[in-house]
Amino acid sequence: MRQQIAAANWKMNLTLDQATHLLDEILKAPHDLQAHQKVVFAVPFPYLLLAQDKISGKLNFFTAAQNCYTKSSGAYTGETSAEMLQSIGVEYVVLGHSERREYFGESNAMLEEKAGMALTYGLTPIFCCGEALQVRESGAQNDYVEKQLKESLFNLSEEQIQKMVIAYEPIWAIGTGKTATAAQAQEMHAHLRNVLARQYGDTVAGEVPILYGGSVKGSNAKELFAQPDVDGGLVGGASLIAADFGQIIDALK
Ligand code: 13P
Repeated sequence: MRQQIAAANWKMNLTLDQATHLLDEILKAPHDLQAHQKVVFAVPFPYLLLAQDKISGKLNFFTAAQNCYTKSSGAYTGETSAEMLQSIGVEYVVLGHSERREYFGESNAMLEEKAGMALTYGLTPIFCCGEALQVRESGAQNDYVEKQLKESLFNLSEEQIQKMVIAYEPIWAIGTGKTATAAQAQEMHAHLRNVLARQYGDTVAGEVPILYGGSVKGSNAKELFAQPDVDGGLVGGASLIAADFGQIIDALK
């Protein structure tokens, strides 16, 4: 059964005290999760070990880094390798978030290297794609997002692509309060699954979770996650509010 994931992307938010409190609040609430349903906390690097500690013993809960570098070690001041993340027990890594593409110049080619590195060290990449508003307004969103996938992922083997999670995050919906409609999300997710199917076949494409991100909240998660090709969400702002993120976890089908 395809996995369903509620992933919190805290971005560059919270102090240690606030992070501790938020994790405690979210984790104290009971969530009736099935084996294929997962909750992932993509926290800032300084809080990864804390989050690892807080979720220990909780079967459906995992941590993610928000980035990793293209190299496994060396003189790259300020960077963090996939191997380091593996060594502390992190399981997921968010790659190619639009904020990294825009502010840190991450290209599809660089993300291909990062995805390869993450997979080499046993991390599951949550690979982000998504178009800007002007691309959507010109009607070119399907081709745009297809190109992101092709240029970064299509040299992966069938076995490797099955280990990926894709997150569709239209840039115009990120942090704007303007969510894609459930129909818009479903249409794009079906397109992405088709793109995967053309390259890797239906069975493989049917196993890759595709998350939606962009102003997901407790109030709209259920409708979005009810779409057949929407396998959960990658959540920014609402993941910083325990009650809201709790509702999002409970919205997993
Ligand atoms: P918001 O949920 O704040 O719109 O952010 C989405 C996002 O970028 C998650 O990675």
